[in-house]
Amino acid sequence: MRIVLDCDPGHDDAFAILLAAASREIELLGVTTVVGNSYLENTTINARKILDLFDLDVPVFPGCAKPLLRNIVVAPQIHGQSGLDGATMPPPKRSIEKIHAVDFIAQMAQKYYDLILVPTGPLTNIALFILKYPKLVKRISTIVLMGGGIAFGNVTPVAEFNIFADAEAAKIVFKSGIPIVMAPLDLTHQVVATEREAEKLRSMGERFQIMADLLMFFKSTYKNVFNIDGAILHDPCTVMYLLHPEIFESQDYFVDVETKGELTYGQTVVDVWRTTGNTPNAKVLLKVNREKFFDILFEKFGSLSRR
Ligand code: BDR
Ligand code: CA
Repeated sequence: MRIVLDCDPGHDDAFAILLAAASREIELLGVTTVVGNSYLENTTINARKILDLFDLDVPVFPGCAKPLLRNIVVAPQIHGQSGLDGATMPPPKRSIEKIHAVDFIAQMAQKYYDLILVPTGPLTNIALFILKYPKLVKRISTIVLMGGGIAFGNVTPVAEFNIFADAEAAKIVFKSGIPIVMAPLDLTHQVVATEREAEKLRSMGERFQIMADLLMFFKSTYKNVFNIDGAILHDPCTVMYLLHPEIFESQDYFVDVETKGELTYGQTVVDVWRTTGNTPNAKVLLKVNREKFFDILFEKFGSLSRR
């Protein structure tokens, strides 16, 4: 399958990039970047650093430096000032592509009939693609996104970061008619990486020691901010779903995004009891087998360490 990974690396984004690049089932056409966990300049540097680290031949296309309408929100308390604190990596060697992320997505949609978009950051680039290229919207086979929550948020009691950081963009995406698979916090919080997973990474060679350091930094900020013991691997859930949907449980729901609420801006409003009567617009992932998740992740990462 052919995917474009649209991300804001970001510790868990870095794991999603690696999982996609390591998987033979996936043709990673490009990595597009967006402002999110840090400013666009940083997320674009970080994406290239991770790809450089593993010598992965994937082009990087910078996208939007600002949300559609709202002010920029970044997350230094979780990902550090650089967006990827916790390990020292050399500056990126590869250059960035000249074409804008949104235009690259359009080119790929034009070229392939089965393109899958995998956003793991705020949905600004994807919404802009929908607005700028309405005729190409039908060419997208699926969007598999990390974002939102049914029961809780992580920036406000009800809003998750990727949606909160550009709720107007998220609303456009959920209303686009493109089939959506949504990995909300309720799911991603089942994928908790601990010191055990970090040890395993350390045993896989020098390059994975950097990944272990990143994981431990992420774990420490989750402890500080949320008092959670472990690093939550939100973003790789998207790629894992594409690889192994059978390890997930899901329900089809109608999902809308709150953009006006005083207390609820950025909330994904998930119609669990079908009270709106609206036809479901998203397959919402609810459960994952954690053990299988990590078995597959390490098997895939193993193929990178042999390259
Ligand atoms: C999401 O926000 C970011 O901090 C992570 O990279 C993930 O995409 C989780 O709410
Ligand atoms: Ca992310």
